[in-house]
Amino acid sequence: MKLILAPMEGLVDVHMRTLLTQDGAFDYCVTEFLRVSDLLLPNKAFYRICPEAHNDWKTPSGTPVHLQLLGSNPELMAENARRGAILGAPVIDVNFGCPSKTVNHNRGGSVLLQDPEEIYQILSAMRQDMPNHVPLTAKMRLGYEDKSLAIENAQAIEAAGASELCIHARTKVEGYKPPAHWEWIAKVKSQVTIPVVANGEIWNLDDYHKCRELSECDNIMLGRGAIANPDLANLIRQPPPQTNKPKNGWAQRLEDLMWMINITMETGNAKFAADRIKQWLAYLKLAYPQADVLFQEVKRYKKTEQMLQKLEDELANLK
Ligand SMILES: Cc1cc2nc3c(=O)[nH]c(=O)nc-3n(C[C@H](O)[C@H](O)[C@H](O)COP(=O)(O)O)c2cc1C
Repeated sequence: MKLILAPMEGLVDVHMRTLLTQDGAFDYCVTEFLRVSDLLLPNKAFYRICPEAHNDWKTPSGTPVHLQLLGSNPELMAENARRGAILGAPVIDVNFGCPSKTVNHNRGGSVLLQDPEEIYQILSAMRQDMPNHVPLTAKMRLGYEDKSLAIENAQAIEAAGASELCIHARTKVEGYKPPAHWEWIAKVKSQVTIPVVANGEIWNLDDYHKCRELSECDNIMLGRGAIANPDLANLIRQPPPQTNKPKNGWAQRLEDLMWMINITMETGNAKFAADRIKQWLAYLKLAYPQADVLFQEVKRYKKTEQMLQKLEDELANLK
């Protein structure tokens, strides 16, 4: 059984990966996608998307970080995968799930699910150029407009030499709207031999167990559920009887939020620090009622210092 932290552009960056993997509950995590459009990217682009590359591609707690590429030109994807591997990436993953209009317009992400042959060409070229010891993996949705090519796409991914496939159990058109069609993962999984990871709409223990049952997968990727409840992976790993009650209380979350503001400000961007706290609170309120009250208060704040002060006061009131 593996638990994986999902790649999430604009949400799961180096700092969020540091926080969410600190207890060692995830087997690995994945970078935000690195876009390959028309050139061999310079080393600094790889280090920017994955600062952990300077730490042997591991978070401070030792959790491996896989590199995710997004693009469609087979030669360029291969060249960039090779560079990533040479820089030490332990695994190269390819994004066939991104629903963004701009990305899809440039033939990246989920739009490629309309053409299994194109997916095959991209991954085969990458596999051929990459050193043998570095695994190639893929992450797909169930389709673009419908699920009719789900099995063909998975088989193309396997035939091209990928050694693991993560399936987000929705089509591009289904976006992020519930439900996730976990039973479809089982259907696809039965038609390939590589390990499959199930993903989509796991917010609590019940979802986790239901997803495992319906997807017939032991390997599970957590996305927004791990942002809403950073203890979710720990809760899943606890021995029975299991409880949904977060192991760490609200005080710990306040400390996490303050750590996040401070570390983000260290890199010089106060506005980004404030925005990401609002973004995170909007998720945290799904698991912590206190986050909703705080969100209503701080959403009007313009200054990061004001937000930090509020968090400090809130924490002091708890002590
Ligand atoms: C804000 C956001 C950014 C995302 N960025 C990526 C990405 O860079 N690469 C990727 O493969 N999937 C990306 N995803 C999809 C997630 O990895 C995951 O498949 C999806 O959120 C479903 O899982 P969940 O319901 O547990 O959140 C993103 C999702 C969100 C909400």
